[in-house]
Parts: sequence; C-alpha cells; structure tokens
Amino acid sequence: VTVDASDSIERMLALEPLGPRHLPAVDDLVLDRDVIRFTRIPDPPPSGFTAQWIAGYESGRRDGTREGFAIVDDGRFAGLALAPTIDREARQTELGYVVAPHARGRGVATWALGTLTDWAFGELDVLRIELFISVENGASKRVAERCRYTREGVLRSLHVKQGLREDTELWSRLSTD
Ligand SMILES: CC(C)(COP(=O)(O)OP(=O)(O)OC[C@H]1O[C@@H](n2cnc3c(N)ncnc32)[C@H](O)[C@@H]1OP(=O)(O)O)[C@@H](O)C(=O)NCCC(=O)NCCS
Repeated sequence: VTVDASDSIERMLALEPLGPRHLPAVDDLVLDRDVIRFTRIPDPPPSGFTAQWIAGYESGRRDGTREGFAIVDDGRFAGLALAPTIDREARQTELGYVVAPHARGRGVATWALGTLTDWAFGELDVLRIELFISVENGASKRVAERCRYTREGVLRSLHVKQGLREDTELWSRLSTD
C-alpha cells in the first residue's frame, strides 16, 4: 500500500510485509521505553526475541491467523502495523501499531491505523476490529479517536503480559459504522 501523504510534510508512507530484513530496526524499536511500557513485548525482551517474533508473524501470514507490516517512510523504517489475532471464521481482528521514536508526532500512527483499518475491512473482510489500549496511553487513544474508533469501556486489571496487569480500554470499529 503506497499513499502520497503530501498533506503536512512531503513524504511517502508505505506498508510492506514484515520480514527478516526488518530485524535490526525492530531490535532497536524494542529498546524504546514506551514500546516496552505499552505493548505485549516482554520486559526485558529475551535474547533472540525479535527474530522469533517476526517468524511468528510470517507463519501467521501463511495460516491466515496474523499479519504484520513494516511502516516505511520514504524508504526508512518507521514502525509496525499489526494484526496480531485474526479470527477468519468470526470475521473479526485485533489491530496494533508502534511508531519508531524518530518518526513520532507527525501523524504516522494515524496514517498506519487508517490504512490497516481499510485493509482489514477490505482484504480481510472483517465485520469488527478491536484495539486494546492502556488507560495511560494518551497518544494511542488519540490515534484511535482520529481513526473513528469507538471507546467501548475499560477491561479492569487485564493481564497484558508477565508482570503487568492493567486497566485497558477496548476500542472498536464495525464495518457498519
Ligand atoms: C502511540 C504511538 C503509536 C503514536 O504514534 P505517532 O505517529 O506519534 O501518532 P500520531 O502522530 O499519528 O498521533 C498522535 C496523537 O496523539 C497526541 N498525543 C501525543 N502524546 C499524547 C499524550 N501524552 N496524551 C494525549 N495525546 C497525545 C498527538 O498530539 C496526536 O494527536 P493530534 O494529531 O490530534 O495532535 C507512538 O507514540 C508509539 O509507538 N508508542 C509506543 C507504542 C504504543 O503505545 N503503541 C500503541 C499500543 S495500543
């Protein structure tokens, strides 16, 4: 998917299938404090984590249960746009996004979630999309809002990952919204 996002600053944003070539950039990304704080990536990431994690997205692509894209900004890695759990039979999916620190604050996540949402309603033909966002994650909530998701409520003390339970907002968009 390539879009000329020449609205604010001149740049070319694209999504490309996540693969081993993104390994060094994703290795850097999982060192970021906010990425560790607000995603299911283990804290700290064990050695070899990133390679296994990317391989998990590649096998998910083959069996249709997950999909991962790298966000590329004018050829440079700028983050991840993910469908971590696709349920084809139920026609619903979860989506997620991570933007590299150098690329934040310029609308990259908003563009990525908008593009991923169109892809999920189009290619995946889902009826419902879910986002799980920490109550503390103001920037991510704003991205969901800008992409016209609806805040459904708070899942209290949700198990996010080992060592972390927290109040987590559930946001959704339906194909009929
Ligand atoms: C959340 C994240 C993806 C946002 O990426 P980004 O490319 O900077 O996002 P955008 O520029 O598209 O939009 C951010 C919006 O949040 C706003 N924002 C930034 N920090 C904020 C905060 N602390 N509280 C409230 N809003 C905030 C920005 O002003 C912007 O809104 P605006 O366009 O109305 O001004 C990025 O910070 C990130 O990768 N964080 C770590 C991983 C993560 O949290 N992923 C999401 C898990 S649910």
